[in-house]
Amino acid sequence: KSVVQHLWHGSASLDMLSPRLQKAVKDYMSTNKHGVSYKGQRRAWMSRTRLLCEMKRKAKVKTLEGEEQPFSSLGWQKIIPALPLERLYGKGFGSCAVVTSAGAILHSGLGKEIDSHDAVLRFNSAPTKGYERDVGNKTTIRIINSQILANPGHQFNSSSLYKNVTLVAWDPAPYTVNLHKWYKNPDYNLFTPYMKYRKQFPAQPFYILHPKFIWQLWDMIQANTLENIQPNPPSSGFIGILLMMWLCEEVDVYEYIPSLRQTDLCHYHERYYDAACTLGAYHPLLYEKILIQHIKSGSESDLRRKGKVTLPGFRTIHC
Ligand code: C5P
Repeated sequence: KSVVQHLWHGSASLDMLSPRLQKAVKDYMSTNKHGVSYKGQRRAWMSRTRLLCEMKRKAKVKTLEGEEQPFSSLGWQKIIPALPLERLYGKGFGSCAVVTSAGAILHSGLGKEIDSHDAVLRFNSAPTKGYERDVGNKTTIRIINSQILANPGHQFNSSSLYKNVTLVAWDPAPYTVNLHKWYKNPDYNLFTPYMKYRKQFPAQPFYILHPKFIWQLWDMIQANTLENIQPNPPSSGFIGILLMMWLCEEVDVYEYIPSLRQTDLCHYHERYYDAACTLGAYHPLLYEKILIQHIKSGSESDLRRKGKVTLPGFRTIHC
């Protein structure tokens, strides 16, 4: 059986990855760039209902609001949108789609189905133009990592990819969530471009996720995994799924857990092949996917044929 077949049954583990990926994971463990030191428990399994309750209780979505130092002294309360992301959409959405950038979505013909949702979340520089048949063309929210803001190649200020959508940026802070250290030394400097963009386009909703939220998500993945997971933040995909579970009544996720179209093609829009994009090296992606597999509903054939899993919104979870 392949790793992906194991994933379909929620039973994959690190030793199923290629020696190259296993080595990369071990190197990230010993580097521990973000100074992770986990003191909590590690459980093998708990029921879907309890797991969902724990997620709702422990991984509350949070964005920077500018009231904490060093941001308050820097005048960020005036820079950040007045309306918090959690309230931007009033009572929230009904049905939502999360569209990962995996190569496996090519030739899926899922575009119409994706666009039929009330809101659609996409990631980083993933385009819709030219790929509408497979990925649709509606974008409500785009999650972007700090490289998109910092790297001139992405033309963040001018590209139409980042216009007419709600933007949600993130960058890994130290595990201790020391905001001073983070501000001085982010992975990629997102703070300066964020300021500039906010001043240029003040009407566009644009948030930065609070690193506390990012590391709460990481803690939750580790708490529900017996192996030690990579001491690096979860992927944008996992962050986006959890964000939408807060904003929506129901979330359909496409090509996160791979379908039968599984491929080493990293992104549907780039000719670059690396199994790490799907199974993880830097991000604890394999473990994220096992966790999502545990809480999903939706049929086995939706998973195999569409790479689709359905997750409940937290509003519908009563604990
Ligand atoms: O590569 P990027 O982070 O922009 O892709 C968005 C998200 O889609 C990833 O964070 C990951 O969760 C998911 N993804 C995946 N398999 C791939 C490519 C992306 O699961 N081959």
